[in-house]
Amino acid sequence: MPNWLFIGLVRFVKALLSDRTLALQSRKPSGFLGRFVLQPLFIKGNAELNALLLSQLKLQPDNRVLEIGFGPGVLLNQMADLVSCGHVYGLDFSETMFQAASQRNQAWILEERMTLRLGSSDAMPFEANTFDKVATANTLYFWQPPESHLQEIYRVLKPTGLLVLGFRDEAQIESMQLDRWIFNAYSQKAVKKLLKSAGFINVEIICQPAIPLDSYVAIATKP
Ligand SMILES: C[S@@+](CC[C@H](N)C(=O)[O-])C[C@H]1O[C@@H](n2cnc3c(N)ncnc32)[C@H](O)[C@@H]1O
Repeated sequence: MPNWLFIGLVRFVKALLSDRTLALQSRKPSGFLGRFVLQPLFIKGNAELNALLLSQLKLQPDNRVLEIGFGPGVLLNQMADLVSCGHVYGLDFSETMFQAASQRNQAWILEERMTLRLGSSDAMPFEANTFDKVATANTLYFWQPPESHLQEIYRVLKPTGLLVLGFRDEAQIESMQLDRWIFNAYSQKAVKKLLKSAGFINVEIICQPAIPLDSYVAIATKP
């Protein structure tokens, strides 16, 4: 999708939907709006953020990696390309996104290289110490409060496992005039503090200039 079309789509969506509906759909896409309006917005608007996240995951062929809040499932698809003898797992609580991502990744699922689950990140259907890496983008805002979700991520990661979390910071959320009742926004400093309080070490934030917004990715390790 060219940039001019994306900007037009964003304006159209903001004119069409109330701030609350847009925020609720962003948190948990559903039905026609989720599939045909929010999904293309996620794919185009978050492509650069997800590319940064993928590069920072530094995936190895044998990695067992989980993406939380996979939405359309484009990143899952790219991860499966790199994890040739490991396994890609995905967890999302939206049935609409679960169906869309399952369709997009049907070949990987049939090859038994990918498993998608429907569920919430504060009660994950996975054993402790399961994953080498956990990825998530544009989900932190919706975790209210975030601590229980971060504890779960910590639990399912193996010792020395890596969390890579992509996000828009408080100033960006403000500039997009998103509904602050649904979008809980954090400064970069606040994200670092949250991750350290959850027990992660070597916490750092990487920023990369991008269109339509600069990308931020937090990287943290389970000791
Ligand atoms: C804004 S979309 C982001 C999609 C994709 N990660 C991206 O960056 O384009 C948020 C996604 O996370 C999912 N999600 C939000 N909170 C979640 C939770 N607590 N557990 C599982 N999935 C969640 C939503 O259903 C939705 O698919």
